[in-house]
Amino acid sequence: MQLVTTHICMAKDLGVHGNLFGGIMMAWIDEAASSMAVSTCHTPNMVTVKVDELVFKKKVKEGFLIRIYGEVAEIGNSSIKFKIEARKVSVYTDEEDVVVSTFITFVRIDESGLPTPIPSPVKERFAGLSKK
Ligand SMILES: CC(C)(COP(=O)(O)OP(=O)(O)OC[C@H]1O[C@@H](n2cnc3c(N)ncnc32)[C@H](O)[C@@H]1OP(=O)(O)O)[C@@H](O)C(=O)NCCC(=O)NCCS
Repeated sequence: MQLVTTHICMAKDLGVHGNLFGGIMMAWIDEAASSMAVSTCHTPNMVTVKVDELVFKKKVKEGFLIRIYGEVAEIGNSSIKFKIEARKVSVYTDEEDVVVSTFITFVRIDESGLPTPIPSPVKERFAGLSKK
């Protein structure tokens, strides 16, 4: 998987239990997946159509780094699905531990907001991951 973004869990990001607040993590994941979608498809005109289940497997405490990784999981005519993993990283050991993983699907839209095909070179690059 490709590293997309890195964040540091700061005091302002914590919820009432002293763990990283879920909504902050969701925003980080959505931002990372969006930036991967627009850079992979070479257009800013990509919208989120679906976010799969999000399971928060491990808590994240202040001071940990969060690295968000992504990879193309599937490509269709106008849609592209990414696998996204958020991993917490100990700054002392660089050890990574997956805390959230999910799949997020984007659709390329035209100037009217309607689905439009992803450019052929992008589809060819990921031909092995074509949507059935
Ligand atoms: C995304 C959007 C343009 C799709 O329009 P639509 O009329 O539902 O699209 P279609 O039924 O023609 O399907 C277009 C593609 O989206 C995919 N799609 C539509 N709904 C989907 C869903 N629930 N899950 C996964 N893929 C979906 C279709 O499979 C199709 O993919 P393909 O072209 O690769 O085969 C429209 O639903 C929309 O504008 N949604 C709001 C997006 C938004 O504002 N997101 C939040 C901010 S970025």
